[in-house]
Amino acid sequence: MSPNEIIELFKQKPIDKDWSFSEYKPSDTGKWTHGYHRYPAKFIPQLVEKLMDTYITDRTASINDPFMGCGTTIVSAVSRGFYASGTDINKIAFLMTDVKAKPICPDYLKRKVNQFLSQICPLEKDYELISRAHIEPYIPERHLEKIDYWFEESVRDELGRILTVINEKEESVVKFFLLVAFSHVLKTCSIWSLASTKPTRDLNKRTTLPYDAIKRHLFKMLKGNAYFYDVVPSQVKDDTDSYLKLRLGCAKDQPVEDNSVDLIVSSSPYVTSYEYADLHQLSTIWLDLAGDLKEYRKEFIGTSYKNYYDKSLKSHIAFKIVEEMEGKNKKKAKEIEAFYIDMQEVFNESYRILKPGGRCCYVIGNTKLRGVDILNAEAFVDSLQHSGFKFDKLIKREIPLKILPQTRDEKTGRFASKDNADSQAYPTEYIVVGLKE
Ligand SMILES: C[S@@+](CC[C@H](N)C(=O)[O-])C[C@H]1O[C@@H](n2cnc3c(N)ncnc32)[C@H](O)[C@@H]1O
Repeated sequence: MSPNEIIELFKQKPIDKDWSFSEYKPSDTGKWTHGYHRYPAKFIPQLVEKLMDTYITDRTASINDPFMGCGTTIVSAVSRGFYASGTDINKIAFLMTDVKAKPICPDYLKRKVNQFLSQICPLEKDYELISRAHIEPYIPERHLEKIDYWFEESVRDELGRILTVINEKEESVVKFFLLVAFSHVLKTCSIWSLASTKPTRDLNKRTTLPYDAIKRHLFKMLKGNAYFYDVVPSQVKDDTDSYLKLRLGCAKDQPVEDNSVDLIVSSSPYVTSYEYADLHQLSTIWLDLAGDLKEYRKEFIGTSYKNYYDKSLKSHIAFKIVEEMEGKNKKKAKEIEAFYIDMQEVFNESYRILKPGGRCCYVIGNTKLRGVDILNAEAFVDSLQHSGFKFDKLIKREIPLKILPQTRDEKTGRFASKDNADSQAYPTEYIVVGLKE
């Protein structure tokens, strides 16, 4: 399909009503382990399930997601007994996916969680008891200044003590499960403004006490694990390692062999919208996961910290978008160019790993930035063809429940709250499907 034909197809494309999933409640979208951790722009599992229903007939299928995020595709694949593989560059995302994808025997987990809560319970009411508990708080020294920027002193120390107890756990499944709960409560315990899509302090925020927050969340996670444990087929529970190939690393390098995957379901980062490295910084600093935050950011696709001078675009549609942006802002143009170059390399990798007859489904939205139409979805279709795919299907869906703000600031390109943004972003999004013939 030529670039002009692609553009024309998108202009004519009506909404596919049966892909909006507006009938589902948060209890449906957060079922099983899906509710373990908030995550920006995460899928709803129903979308992944519908794609699996549409394209998978084989009971031993293999599903891949190069941008796992918090693991929606991986968890959905595991729930059906499929093989699952994928990557994420973000250490917190990797941890979440790993924990969410592996069901744990509910009775055993309940015992371990209760034991943990009894160890930290002196922190519950009486702060005097903290010193009697003789738990030395673990606060990563080199991030102390940042931690103090986001947390009140008493909260910081309570969190530090909880972390000490978690770090002493010997069984890694229990330790990682607790770390995900710990990571999830950090935002509610800090003065990080939950209304803002970028790191902003809210000095009037009423923060939650760490013990209360983690206890409540752990009970929710226990319930989710028990449901998931019931759903996952026994052959997967008995041999999880053979079914899961997850790697902390770049989407351009998947931990699977050539021609081995049946279906890819993924959503890439959105160019210059979220700085994923920054959004997870509370978890990153507390768990001491990134050495140099500046270098860490550059590994992310879609970041504004990256540009290329030794690579060029293949997609004509991407080229035209970058060219138009050059007339408005040269730096932004380089960032957008880097995004499309990176995505072309990711699509090459998708082509390598899919079986002939296999499909990749990429979920992506378009937007406008500095007056330029950023036609991501059209550029993706064009790029998929350059990687060898046949363009198979286009789905246009409304996103009524998605945890995305619906507007973005036209100057910065970042998502913004509805009140202070001046352009609509992602009220609809596309699923572009490529077929490896
Ligand atoms: C839109 S999110 C994916 C959300 C996911 N579909 C879910 O349901 O949670 C995009 C993800 O891409 C990841 N990412 C960014 N650059 C990457 C890279 N170079 N390699 C792998 N993952 C990357 C981000 O960390 C983020 O988790």
